[in-house]
Amino acid sequence: MIKVGIIGVGTVGTSVAQILRDNADVISARAGVDISVKSGVVKNLNKDRGLDIIITDNVDDVLEDEEIDIVVELMGGVDEPFEVVKRALKAGKAVVTANKALLAYHRYELQDLAKNIAFEYEASVAGGIPIINALRDGLSANHIESIMGIMNGTCNYMMTEMSNNGVSYDTILKEAQDLGYAEADPSFDVGGFDAAHKLLILASIAYGIDAKPEDILIEGIDKVRSEDIAFAKEFGYVIKLLGIAKKDADEVELRVHACLIKQEEMIAKIDGVMNAISVVGDKVGETLYYGPGAGGDATASAVVANIIDIARSGKSTPMLGFDRPMEGNKLTLKSTDDINSKYYLRINVSDRAGVLAKVTKLFEDNNISVETMLQRPATQTSANLLVSTHIALEKDVQKLMKELESQDFVNLTPVMIRIV
Ligand code: HSE
Repeated sequence: MIKVGIIGVGTVGTSVAQILRDNADVISARAGVDISVKSGVVKNLNKDRGLDIIITDNVDDVLEDEEIDIVVELMGGVDEPFEVVKRALKAGKAVVTANKALLAYHRYELQDLAKNIAFEYEASVAGGIPIINALRDGLSANHIESIMGIMNGTCNYMMTEMSNNGVSYDTILKEAQDLGYAEADPSFDVGGFDAAHKLLILASIAYGIDAKPEDILIEGIDKVRSEDIAFAKEFGYVIKLLGIAKKDADEVELRVHACLIKQEEMIAKIDGVMNAISVVGDKVGETLYYGPGAGGDATASAVVANIIDIARSGKSTPMLGFDRPMEGNKLTLKSTDDINSKYYLRINVSDRAGVLAKVTKLFEDNNISVETMLQRPATQTSANLLVSTHIALEKDVQKLMKELESQDFVNLTPVMIRIV
């Protein structure tokens, strides 16, 4: 019998205990051993969770319990779970976590600590989709050329509703919170940080890149408004928040931002709260993974799969999937300045003679070529210029954005979305 202790019995923790109880027949058949939850750590002892397990508010009751083989960490946050997980590993207990923020900051330290003990984290990226398994095991024969995906259900839900049903940004954010898709602090979702945490985890497995959220380009969907969605529609695009990892010679670019994507691309058709991740390997070509990226049962399905895997073998593959330097340790993180993309800009200008010429001169001065331009009246005296560009360099576009903002005929901070 394998015994599990759950630290953090919220929505996902409760689902983990229920799945281990309700699906015990298939689980024990697949694991070759019975698995049960012995105890769970909670903050509020008074809440009834309907589970037949020991409930405590003291982590020591799990970490110091010699009967517990596997600790499931579902606390959220970074510092506190890091201490808890380190203690569990030092006590010789296998660990399963769904905590993407913990891994975004500490995955390499944890990989070192977990050398001889199983540490699994399938649920940390894209909830129920077995993307860690696919990347670490299923595609292990490949050099990974790119990873691109919808990794945040809240943002995808919001973009879908704004686009299909004309719902405003604020209304739909509130709805996503009410439906329980959003993080406790929704700025993690709409600011792109949740997706960035997930991207960093995938980039470690694919490339061995050791970067922190502060090192990469992270933007959210918080500036996208209905005018941008209307422009996208008019030119055959949809807007999505994507996480992108791309290898270019010895450099890897990592970025999270809103993107205009051609409507006919597969990833453009992923609607609502669902996640989808495309991985291109040099031998396999493109593979696509689709499914629920959030929700108690979907996330718990991935947690329980890790528990079963550990119960089967006692020791998992190396935590990030490599035991020797990855690609000779020669890959480095590409500077954000050097990213190449097409861009869309929304520039609110005073509607008077000569303004358009001044705007296009700034584009020319920064070596940026315009592909399409639309002018839409905004008020009696102002207009929105909606511009898409040919391929340009990120540092040139950033410089243009600053220069535009400082012009007296530009009324609001210009908005930029990259086109993928
Ligand atoms: N808030 C996250 C999302 C939950 O919307 O995708 C899963 O990480």
